[in-house]
Amino acid sequence: MPWNSCQRRLKLLVIVAILPALVMIALSELVLAQAPEPAGHPFALSHSSLTDPAIETRVEALLKQMTLDEKVGQLAQYSSGAPTGPSAGNADYPNMIARGEVGSLFNLDSARAANEYQRIAVEKSRLHIPLLFGLDVIHGYRTTFPVPLALASTWDPSIVEKAARIAAQESSAASVRWVFSPMVDIARDPRWGRMVEGAGEDPYLGSVMARAYVRGYQGKSLGDKESVAACVKHFVGYGAVEGGRDYNTAEISEHTLREIYLPPFYAAIREGSASLMSSFNTLNGLPATANPFTLTQILRKEWGFPGLVVSDWTSVGELVAHGIARDKAAAAQKAIAAGVDMDMVSDSYHPHLADLVKSGQVSQARLDEAVRDVLRVKFALGLFEDPFADESREIKGALPTERVEAARLSAERSFVLLKNSVAGSRPILPLTNESGTIALIGPFVDDARNMLGPWAGRGRPEDVVTLKTALEQRVGADKIRFAKGGELQTASDTEIQKAIETAKQADVVLLALGEEADTQSGEAASRAYLNLPGRQEELLEKVAATGKPIVLLLFSGRPLTLPWAFEHVPAIVAAWFPGIQAGPALVRVLFGDVPPSGKLVVSWPRTIGQIPVYYNALNTGRPPGNTDLTHPPQDSLEKYLSRYIDEQNSPQFPFGFGLSYSSLEYSRTHVDSVKLSASDNAIHATASASVKNTGNRAVDEIVQVYIRLTGTSMEEPVRKLVGFKRISLAPGESQTVSFPLGAEAFSLWDMQNKLRVEPSHAQFWISPDSSRGLPAELEIVE
Ligand code: BGC
Repeated sequence: MPWNSCQRRLKLLVIVAILPALVMIALSELVLAQAPEPAGHPFALSHSSLTDPAIETRVEALLKQMTLDEKVGQLAQYSSGAPTGPSAGNADYPNMIARGEVGSLFNLDSARAANEYQRIAVEKSRLHIPLLFGLDVIHGYRTTFPVPLALASTWDPSIVEKAARIAAQESSAASVRWVFSPMVDIARDPRWGRMVEGAGEDPYLGSVMARAYVRGYQGKSLGDKESVAACVKHFVGYGAVEGGRDYNTAEISEHTLREIYLPPFYAAIREGSASLMSSFNTLNGLPATANPFTLTQILRKEWGFPGLVVSDWTSVGELVAHGIARDKAAAAQKAIAAGVDMDMVSDSYHPHLADLVKSGQVSQARLDEAVRDVLRVKFALGLFEDPFADESREIKGALPTERVEAARLSAERSFVLLKNSVAGSRPILPLTNESGTIALIGPFVDDARNMLGPWAGRGRPEDVVTLKTALEQRVGADKIRFAKGGELQTASDTEIQKAIETAKQADVVLLALGEEADTQSGEAASRAYLNLPGRQEELLEKVAATGKPIVLLLFSGRPLTLPWAFEHVPAIVAAWFPGIQAGPALVRVLFGDVPPSGKLVVSWPRTIGQIPVYYNALNTGRPPGNTDLTHPPQDSLEKYLSRYIDEQNSPQFPFGFGLSYSSLEYSRTHVDSVKLSASDNAIHATASASVKNTGNRAVDEIVQVYIRLTGTSMEEPVRKLVGFKRISLAPGESQTVSFPLGAEAFSLWDMQNKLRVEPSHAQFWISPDSSRGLPAELEIVE
């Protein structure tokens, strides 16, 4: 984009450095992650009973009674309602279930429908093995929370855990005891629509969020009727697909896989995730659904995962299209041999596995192992004792208040204030009762459907309170002038003109623009242009030309590249897709009832040409350092650097960035030791800094701690997040924030792909985002 947009300097209300605290995985886990082939299940899963010996005894007893066909049946999963069964469109599920040919069904609509199928399974099938019902519950079942990218932007695992718990309660009431979540794919490319489903670009934050989801879904015990089995997905490398094109190919070195892409999976499994989904993409030349290195070597042998591995939707059958299987029988053979237990929908296992076992192409032992993985989860969920859902638990009417409030709180904390310039004597936001007449413009101001995001479980538009409704309740309809300004994809001249006239009548304009949740965000929604669709940018520029103060509310599942807006619009909020309480949450933040406190979990690119742009990059041998990149290179010193000749390297907004309504001062970071020994297993240092609220409004700040190691055997990122903490500060208040940092923070994957702490030089930054602060230093000696 044009250079003038690069030269703009954001006036930041927030200033430099602090200190947060970190929850470190204990050293025992570090050792575990290194252990080559631990026997059995090397760690007790925190919240699941998958490793309970009593369950193992029952699994073995049942397995002994099963015929080959019944075993194969447990490994087949179909989607109810979709034409996915053996005879595409005519799947005779009732009879298949009665014959023991189905292990799991998903996409059912109600407890009643599920109970009908379950009755067939437990009453008519020979061994009475219950079905396991699944669903994509991504950010809520009916109580729809903000999309996962937004939930992560709260940097608040307690919010995520609560959202997942409510989702578990509602799902289980509808007989769904298996949710295909959390999606923990690291995403560095906003062209990839599925960025919206995850926690962004950082492995540490992604791991914290992954654990929170699993805790919420699985509760204290899987056997609790209100708990559901989590399914961490998509294993692995799916977020790194070429060009951001969905389902595409990923090339990731083993080093980067272990440093960046695997940690959130490991974290979810460490937390007890009962299942895992293999991904669509090819990873380093081998489709992930047929990849023994990831599915068996890493997942089973290194991590000791005792749970169920399900393929992604038709990803077993897709091995034919990938060209590594000539037919579905070969696809089934490759997938199960690599470690996929259950075939989601592709109907490759069901017709072929028995023959493959009879001919010796699939071993009896591998088949039995896969069946054990399915039965173990069914026993742990208590399905054999209590297979039916209590239909009276399903919410039919209005949602309970405490769930609605949880949705509102999570939305409030997920908004990221990107810009808030001074207009007149003060910043535009927060609005006050004296803000005067408000023009409410844009296709999103009264749009319930889009507030739910691209994958809203059983969320209902009628549960959504829109911005228009909430604002009318807050200030009264007489203070609002409303113009939609056209649709998302189209607008007429008349609609745009009406919006301009409406803006002229107001004192301040709230402009709600963005991408369409269903078609432009989420799965199969890769975008080559990250602009505002339709005529929305024209609408924005014409409304801005009225000279009225504008607050731009951006609804999207990813960062959008809008250089004009970032230069010319005085106040901008990334609102994502906020869920059922979109309106009330926005109004409370816009009016300052609660401070904006979300921070970006992805670097926000200035232009598509910068992608991938992420904060935890390697330095290169030609880093620009302090070179001014806001103009094209003027001599060879400025030119032969790792840079663009026509754009800055830095993103529009860095990872971790988000403004508040106050101003903050971070002290210099301090570390309590100057030297640590790498060989000392209890390696430990505490980083601290003080943070002061120097403004006149209360603030909720997410204090972040980053580290850089140099002198290491492998190159380490220029910064990596190793902890964060949310603090509240009254005006004038300051707080010292401390982060105890243990082995996990200082460890890296070496040339032999072993995790270890090396003698090195460590720098620490406690800072408000990934780009600021002055480091403290520490030596890690032999
Ligand atoms: C998606 C998965 C999802 C599955 C089942 C696939 O297309 O990639 O994330 O869980 O469908 O609906």
